[in-house]
Amino acid sequence: MKLTPRLAAIADLVPVGSVVADIGTDHGYLPVYLLSEGISQRVIASDVNKAPLDQARETVAALNCTHKVDLRLGNGLHVLRQDDNPDTVIIAGMGGRTITLILEEGRHKLAGVERFILQPMSEAGYLRLFLAQNGFALVHESLAMEGKRLYEIILAKPGKEMETDPFRLSFGPRLLEKKPELFPVLVRDKIRKLRIVYFNLQNARHRNMSEKIKTVEKELMYLEEVLAGAVERADID
Ligand SMILES: C[S@@+](CC[C@H](N)C(=O)[O-])C[C@H]1O[C@@H](n2cnc3c(N)ncnc32)[C@H](O)[C@@H]1O
Repeated sequence: MKLTPRLAAIADLVPVGSVVADIGTDHGYLPVYLLSEGISQRVIASDVNKAPLDQARETVAALNCTHKVDLRLGNGLHVLRQDDNPDTVIIAGMGGRTITLILEEGRHKLAGVERFILQPMSEAGYLRLFLAQNGFALVHESLAMEGKRLYEIILAKPGKEMETDPFRLSFGPRLLEKKPELFPVLVRDKIRKLRIVYFNLQNARHRNMSEKIKTVEKELMYLEEVLAGAVERADID
């Protein structure tokens, strides 16, 4: 079974022998891949909606994985039971705020979980700030491109995040450190969005925007420097 680049980048972060909870599984491709490749020994796959869960059930049956997948209908981490003991929780393909809410509401279910693989479709910065302020370290971050869309994938573990600067934190501290291949694509996209914010702020009628404008100016300068450095490095490599 071949996964799309986004799902493959998520699967890459799952260790061999893991017990996985895939929250919001939809089609069920990830659980089936993890089992058929011998990466996971057992997967709890859930969805809040019945139609996607039925779809997952079909995928699981078609690939003869029924005995190793526990399909559950329900909201977020509430589907987890005391004896499930997943070591890995995957929450992918949802908005950053939804992922945050799922983690917040399901806090009491997370004892023993060693890693969280999170792939927000939006507001990745909001999710990162939540993680850092709530006892998670951002251990690794990667990028995947599908068509024209770039996806950010976060591997978080219980622990202390050492990055304290809010801008670097929301941007992705491990991305800034490691600068993976698709990093320039991400920075260019952030610069484009930040320029729109800058333009709108300058045209806003409120007088008390000057502090905010200065902050955005600084952020833009910082990202332009980061981009220049990343492009230069790619040229040398
Ligand atoms: C776009 S799909 C992503 C599917 C898959 N995780 C992936 O990354 O390809 C999002 C799925 O999450 C489910 N979902 C949304 N909110 C949820 C929640 N609070 N709890 C469980 N599932 C949820 C939706 O029903 C949908 O099937």
